[in-house]
Amino acid sequence: MPSGCRLAAARFAPGTGCQDSTDIPLPTALEQATRQRQAEFVAGRRCARAALLDLTGRPDCPAMGPERAPLWPTQVVGSISHCRDQAIALVGPTDRYRGLGIDLEQPFSASQSEDLGPLVLARGESAPWNAALHPFLVSLSFSAKESLFKALFPLVQHRFDFAAAELIEWDLQGHAVLRLRNSLGGEWQPGVRFPVRHCRFQGLLLTRIAIPASTAPTHGSVA
Ligand SMILES: CC(C)(COP(=O)(O)OP(=O)(O)OC[C@H]1O[C@@H](n2cnc3c(N)ncnc32)[C@H](O)[C@@H]1OP(=O)(O)O)[C@@H](O)C(=O)NCCC(=O)NCCS
Repeated sequence: MPSGCRLAAARFAPGTGCQDSTDIPLPTALEQATRQRQAEFVAGRRCARAALLDLTGRPDCPAMGPERAPLWPTQVVGSISHCRDQAIALVGPTDRYRGLGIDLEQPFSASQSEDLGPLVLARGESAPWNAALHPFLVSLSFSAKESLFKALFPLVQHRFDFAAAELIEWDLQGHAVLRLRNSLGGEWQPGVRFPVRHCRFQGLLLTRIAIPASTAPTHGSVA
């Protein structure tokens, strides 16, 4: 876990909707959503609240902001993910982090990676990869880019797609590096690198990105 951050994770029953939830208000946009969507939202918010309680001493529950980005308390950044029956939230203080991104994914099967590879991978990203590792690497690229999106969206304030970054380094010990291919505005220019950590968590692939507060982005490492 990034230094000074707090993580909270919980299992939930995907089919239960929010019937057992009086403590987490559903946003209007989710009142007519499926039970699965309501259940994952509530589970993610419970994790966020537990992580915030641990970090700040206050059990805040972030509202849903524009483009679904959670609205964290002042002096906190964070990120939420849910997959299958698992939810997770990561939070940290703004004096140490400008952005945090976390993502849980069910690793892709061989046929899913064949289908999704062209969507997820930037041009040239797949070329040197061992075919046997293709499903893992498509999964890793996908999840790392979702983590990047969650960490950067609050800073750039616009959406960007999978072609905006490429996985340029990875190993099986939990390290990887994403590099921007496109300008996302301001200091987020092509060549900026984001170290990624990855691991297995409850049978899922977990990735996370932490953008430190103290380091200006360069064409070298930013974390
Ligand atoms: C937003 C997105 C990243 C969510 O990922 P997902 O796999 O569908 O779902 P996850 O459970 O991992 O994450 C969902 C959580 O991400 C968070 N999230 C959603 N939009 C967000 C945004 N704009 N900024 C920050 N966090 C956001 C929310 O907390 C959301 O959960 P909630 O709606 O219950 O609060 C995904 O739907 C998406 O739009 N991807 C395309 C953009 C992208 O990834 N580009 C790659 C850039 S290189």
